[in-house]
Amino acid sequence: MKSAILFSFIISRSSTILLLPDVLINAIYSFFEGLLYFACGIDVFGGLPVSNDSLTITDNRTGRTYELAINDNTIRANDLRQIKVDADDFGLMTYDPSFMSTAACRSAITFIDGERGILRYRGYPIEQLAEKSSFLEVAYLLNEGALPDQEQFDRWTDKIKNHTYVHTNIIKFLEGFRYDAHPMGMMLSAVSALSTFYPDAKNIKDPENRYLQRVRLLAKAPTIAAFAFRHSRGLPFVFPDNDLDYVGNFVNMTFSIGGRHKPNPVLQRALEVLFVLHADHEQNCSTSAVRAVGSSHVDLFSAVSAGVAALYGPLHGGANEAVIKMLDEIGSVQNVPNFIKEVKEGKRKLMGFGHRVYKSYDPRAKLIKRIADEVFDQTGLNPKLKIALELERIALEEDYFVSRKLYPNVDFYSGLIYQAMGYPTDYFTVLFALGRMPGWLAQWEEMLLDDDQKIARPRQIYTGSEERPYVPMEKRKTSVTA
Ligand SMILES: CC(C)(COP(=O)(O)OP(=O)(O)OC[C@H]1O[C@@H](n2cnc3c(N)ncnc32)[C@H](O)[C@@H]1OP(=O)(O)O)[C@@H](O)C(=O)NCCC(=O)NCCS
Repeated sequence: MKSAILFSFIISRSSTILLLPDVLINAIYSFFEGLLYFACGIDVFGGLPVSNDSLTITDNRTGRTYELAINDNTIRANDLRQIKVDADDFGLMTYDPSFMSTAACRSAITFIDGERGILRYRGYPIEQLAEKSSFLEVAYLLNEGALPDQEQFDRWTDKIKNHTYVHTNIIKFLEGFRYDAHPMGMMLSAVSALSTFYPDAKNIKDPENRYLQRVRLLAKAPTIAAFAFRHSRGLPFVFPDNDLDYVGNFVNMTFSIGGRHKPNPVLQRALEVLFVLHADHEQNCSTSAVRAVGSSHVDLFSAVSAGVAALYGPLHGGANEAVIKMLDEIGSVQNVPNFIKEVKEGKRKLMGFGHRVYKSYDPRAKLIKRIADEVFDQTGLNPKLKIALELERIALEEDYFVSRKLYPNVDFYSGLIYQAMGYPTDYFTVLFALGRMPGWLAQWEEMLLDDDQKIARPRQIYTGSEERPYVPMEKRKTSVTA
């Protein structure tokens, strides 16, 4: 009976549409439709039972109402496509430049609560991992989903150590760069070049093969990074020493001269903790780049080189380099108030402050500040630290920063530490890339295993010219600009 009433209502609707303007008809019908559904005991909205976990949308262009499911506090953007003005309409889309409010995947790797300053890898708080775990343990955790027991860890470490060497042609490749090549440019080129050395990496459908490539990249990244460091100093390359642990081997490959390098355990542990703090940060710019490029089913090395490229940018991994430049420019503590004034006037940016996700103190920045104290105890105070501390002190009291929830981020102090350790500023982002590697690998694997994922392909709102006739060259007029 109820369905008969509904059916006759829908039929009569299509015949009346011919006589009145669309919007008016739709509005009238939506009103009566609502009443009818109500009378039929179904529900007022859209004719479907309204669940608590749903969103009801009325399209004021047509007066039609839709109910979209809400899962995990999100609606599916694709569900909006049913919202059309007429049958030829493509359907409604969302406009979200820079993906400010779009979840592009489901992920079980890293949890961030930006308001409360929480960061966890696979459920473990970053503070505990930074205090207790080695970098390779964290790399295992991110990639395998659980902390390894001793046997699993030994096997994992052994596998990594088996793959630390690079093909000697990689050395020739790196030697081809100019003496002053930016080490991050060298790193990104060498990571992508690995795809030519391991053509088997194209077989991304085979889980064992994917595992092998992930191990390869994690093992070779420090070797490539160290070679880039040595190249810029004109020093011969030091080959991996597999008796050393992951970070110890890297430090040895960067600083050893004539086998005389005596590593400082405090500095080495500090570097390891910095790697742990950088190991993953869910869907940031570089990780999204790895996922987007990887979604084309290209090999791992090519996908990760996209991540390295993204990290190279000053708004992402390059910010710690920019912090040092800014501190150099400020020069002394006395100049801090004037600098802050310029920031508030919108003339400058306070580099190392602000974060897309953290709207309170970045938990990593808190830990890094502590590491800085331990490092400067060993190396002597970096004079720029005083300027940084004063910048932070004033900024945290100023309404401009407080009202915008701008706090120090991971990059504010990390550059000072790297500098105290002896790394040049243009090398900081390479260190960030080494730390982020396990995260990129884990996110790539997760993306490939996710049945919801297809090749990444955003939509656009076209703002260009309408169709126009082609004009032959001789008939084109150069526009004259004043
Ligand atoms: C990280 C960053 C890109 C995040 O940007 P975002 O989420 O898009 O934030 P917005 O650019 O919308 O900033 C919001 C407001 O704060 C201001 N702001 C953000 N970061 C600022 C900074 N570092 N110094 C001064 N003002 C800043 C913006 O000008 C904007 O002000 P407005 O509302 O008056 O226009 C941004 O904070 C930044 O550029 N920081 C410096 C670079 C850096 O340290 N990057 C490392 C990130 S780990």
